[in-house]
Amino acid sequence: MGESMVGLKRTHRCGEVDESLTGQKVTVMGWVQRRRDLGQLIFIALRDRTGIVQAVVDQNTAQEIFQKAETIRSEYVVAIRGQVAARTKENINPAMKTGKIEILVEELRILSESETPPFPVEEDIQTKDDIRLKYRYIDLRRPNMFRNLYLRHRVAQIVRQFLNQEGFLEIETPMLGKSTPEGARDYLVPSRVHPGEFYALPQSPQLFKQLLMVSGMDRYYQLAKCFRDEDLRADRQPEFTQIDMELSFVDQEDILDINERLIQTVFREALGVEIAVPFQRMTYAEGMERFGSDKPDLRFGMELKNISDVVRGTEFVVFRSALEQGGSVRAINAEGCGHFPRKQIDQLVEFVKTYQAKGLAWIVINEDGSIKSQIAKFFTEEKMAEIVSVMNGKPGDLILICAGKDKVVFDSLGALRCELALRLNLTRPDDYRFLWITEFPMLEWDEEENRYVAVHHPFTMPMEEDIPLLDTDPGKVRAIAYDMVLNGVELGGGSIRIHRSDIQNKMFELLGFTPEQAYEQFKFLLDAFQYGVPPHGGLAFGFDRLVMLMTGASSIRDVIAFPKVKDASCPLTEAPSAVEEKQLEELGITVTAAKEEMPEA
Ligand code: AMO
Repeated sequence: MGESMVGLKRTHRCGEVDESLTGQKVTVMGWVQRRRDLGQLIFIALRDRTGIVQAVVDQNTAQEIFQKAETIRSEYVVAIRGQVAARTKENINPAMKTGKIEILVEELRILSESETPPFPVEEDIQTKDDIRLKYRYIDLRRPNMFRNLYLRHRVAQIVRQFLNQEGFLEIETPMLGKSTPEGARDYLVPSRVHPGEFYALPQSPQLFKQLLMVSGMDRYYQLAKCFRDEDLRADRQPEFTQIDMELSFVDQEDILDINERLIQTVFREALGVEIAVPFQRMTYAEGMERFGSDKPDLRFGMELKNISDVVRGTEFVVFRSALEQGGSVRAINAEGCGHFPRKQIDQLVEFVKTYQAKGLAWIVINEDGSIKSQIAKFFTEEKMAEIVSVMNGKPGDLILICAGKDKVVFDSLGALRCELALRLNLTRPDDYRFLWITEFPMLEWDEEENRYVAVHHPFTMPMEEDIPLLDTDPGKVRAIAYDMVLNGVELGGGSIRIHRSDIQNKMFELLGFTPEQAYEQFKFLLDAFQYGVPPHGGLAFGFDRLVMLMTGASSIRDVIAFPKVKDASCPLTEAPSAVEEKQLEELGITVTAAKEEMPEA
């Protein structure tokens, strides 16, 4: 049941009605935040995306309106026409923009009724995420969700405006395409017209944007939907949006410069925050050595130190065997954490095990300078003192040591550093520490596949001085690839691309492709490169991640209108779902795995 709004026109949004309108007639429409009944007086708090305004029905209001107002409940959609009046002094709410006035109701229409909502439409709620997502349309009524989506909209606008001014063209690329080499699993779309054949949804517009450079578009951008069938995390969604760009006749410096200014403009115009440029830069190697990460969070210290040389030649078998196998022993000093109870230290030990570390040695430096450590028995007192001194250990500190293969040690201590910062509450979300990570390795050895894989993608240009290493020591080749990192999150990444066929062929060879296989997979790109390819490069930001960090949200779900949950399903629409037999027949598809046979997500 609902009344019509014929004859009524909205004059203002709820949050816009303030004392400047006192004495005027206004018509507002929205959702009832709450009704307060004081016998002869009914207050209706009416909400739309701009805020809440108070309307009053009292003895002076017509009887029929009064009776109607009594039936109103939360989340009813109503239209109110009335006169703006100043609130009495004691009723003024200085916290609200509309807090000095109220609307004296002259006409009230219930446009639609509402069931009791599953959770209150309020700023902060404790409701579980799956309930919020099932009723996302209600969740999005909450002011913080509106603010997030509004900021997202603003950022998109500013990005477009900035890139337009820099001479970029916004060009769309296909959703139905061929698999791209971004390294995750593809989402496939069956073809009805070509039974047994599939499109792949783009993991990124990578190959198309390179083709656009061959086409002479010079500078391209797109807010591009990308699809990757990979495990979800707080900053990952199976479908997400990139701010994707590609530029011709540029080098790395040009691309970093434009993107620093883009970020500066976005933060200035959307948040009023001034970000200094140029950003700090760090090579990949330095990021690993100091922070155990290619996306270091610079808001706190606790840097890693390599203590391999200090402990070399000692008897402790864990350290000795790590070093003998070509690994390392590294440590961090968790300053002031010496008071951690044993149980908490044990939790840290368990924590690093999830990063494949075999364990974590610890040294507590007591307030009197004496040492407590489970590994003390393996070392002389002098050696222990040396470790403490190298780590700048002071009374009250906790030194945490990890030994093993470099990758494991970096991953473990890198993550441990962040975990400790979280536990110790060392960071603020609005302390924005941007940096560029440069000189990524070109290739990474894949133990499982027993071959090299491209760290960024196969079209990334090696650094000029490392080109000879392609023949002699490919694992050492550095790429002209860069990531923009903000507070421990990879915001974006890109590279200068290979435009020389000799280098491209070499890359394919190193990646284990025969020339025929490479041609088969990337035919259209390699063909295009035969017709005059400009030197080019680009970058893509994770748009959702950028907005997440700007809002201070802890998950990208909070900045996406209709996100997926951990198992990549949508609680609202219940996608994915089974389809009709007829649809499958048309596509020539037989489903072999029943739902219960599928591996656990
Ligand atoms: P890359 O794979 O590094 O590069 O992706 C670019 C950025 O996209 C974001 N991102 C994601 N965001 C949310 N959910 C995901 N599942 C997800 N995966 C990636 C990250 C990342 O930095 N074509 C290249 C770019 C280029 O070379 O120009 C590419 O896609 O913020």
